[in-house]
Amino acid sequence: MTTHDKGPDMRVTVAGVEFRSPVIAASGTFGYGIEFEEIVSLERIGGFVTKGLSREPMVGNAAPRIIETAAGMMNAIGLQNMGVRPFISEKLPKLRKLPGAVVIANVFGFTIEDCLEVIGALNDAEGIAMYELNASCPNTSHGGMVFGTDPALLHELTARCKAAAKRPLMVKLSPNVTSIGQMAKVAEDGGADAVSLVNTFVALSIDVVTRKPRIANVTGGLSGPAIRPIAVRMVHEASRAVKIPVVGMGGIVRAQDAVEFMLAGATAVQVGTASYADPRAVENIANGLRRWCAAHEVTHVSSLTGAALLN
Ligand SMILES: Cc1cc2nc3c(=O)[nH]c(=O)nc-3n(C[C@H](O)[C@H](O)[C@H](O)COP(=O)(O)O)c2cc1C
Repeated sequence: MTTHDKGPDMRVTVAGVEFRSPVIAASGTFGYGIEFEEIVSLERIGGFVTKGLSREPMVGNAAPRIIETAAGMMNAIGLQNMGVRPFISEKLPKLRKLPGAVVIANVFGFTIEDCLEVIGALNDAEGIAMYELNASCPNTSHGGMVFGTDPALLHELTARCKAAAKRPLMVKLSPNVTSIGQMAKVAEDGGADAVSLVNTFVALSIDVVTRKPRIANVTGGLSGPAIRPIAVRMVHEASRAVKIPVVGMGGIVRAQDAVEFMLAGATAVQVGTASYADPRAVENIANGLRRWCAAHEVTHVSSLTGAALLN
């Protein structure tokens, strides 16, 4: 049988970890994975990124925390999560039993020491393929914004987390910066094995009758199709600036959107907001990407990475 008879080869490798599809569920939109077990065939998708995990459990921000916007949504969940240790004892044993689920643990903290403690706890746990370090969450007044937007801090955070991590470290970059290429390079120089982008864009929406913000936190992070062309541009710039793999996301809702990110330079992609409209979105996009490759005579999906004709 030729490769063509078997269908396109959908495997990609990011930082030494092999994914059976380049389509991965993004952090904060796929729970801890378990919640989607009955809805999504986890073995059909590339994998998923957990909700951001912190040292201690967090209740998050006051409501309203999510609103719909034109072609997207804004959220200020405030990094609500069960905390890393309950994740390890309650969720991970169930995740380990699911066949084919590549689990990426998303890590954040308000200090570098917080992040090191989360990574240290995860290091001893089985069933995780990689860490994604959230240097970019725009919803807290400490931590995220500062790490992701200050080159010196981002370098220090990356270098110390990399030294502590027993697994590959992917650094998730903030898009709220002037030069995404520079920040990607800073992460690479700090020892990151891959970078992922984009996280949400800091945004504000005002109710014109009450004259109050539509989100209790005042600002929130904008995601969904509205940000896609900006995200594609940033993925392109980041991929030009570094040699490590770039994982792209921002408004992917169809297989063609995933192709666009890969052509711009992404090795793999993540799907976030689309799962809110359709919990099966990640699987549908993964299946659609396979069909798209077959229909366009792309025998290896990895050949799409950086293959846009831009000059
Ligand atoms: C409700 C919600 C919660 C999120 N929580 C996290 C999080 O905990 N950690 C993180 O790194 N990114 C988080 N994100 C960002 C997404 O993972 C993704 O980077 C962003 O939404 C852009 O992709 P999209 O347009 O496909 O949603 C969250 C996004 C949404 C919409």
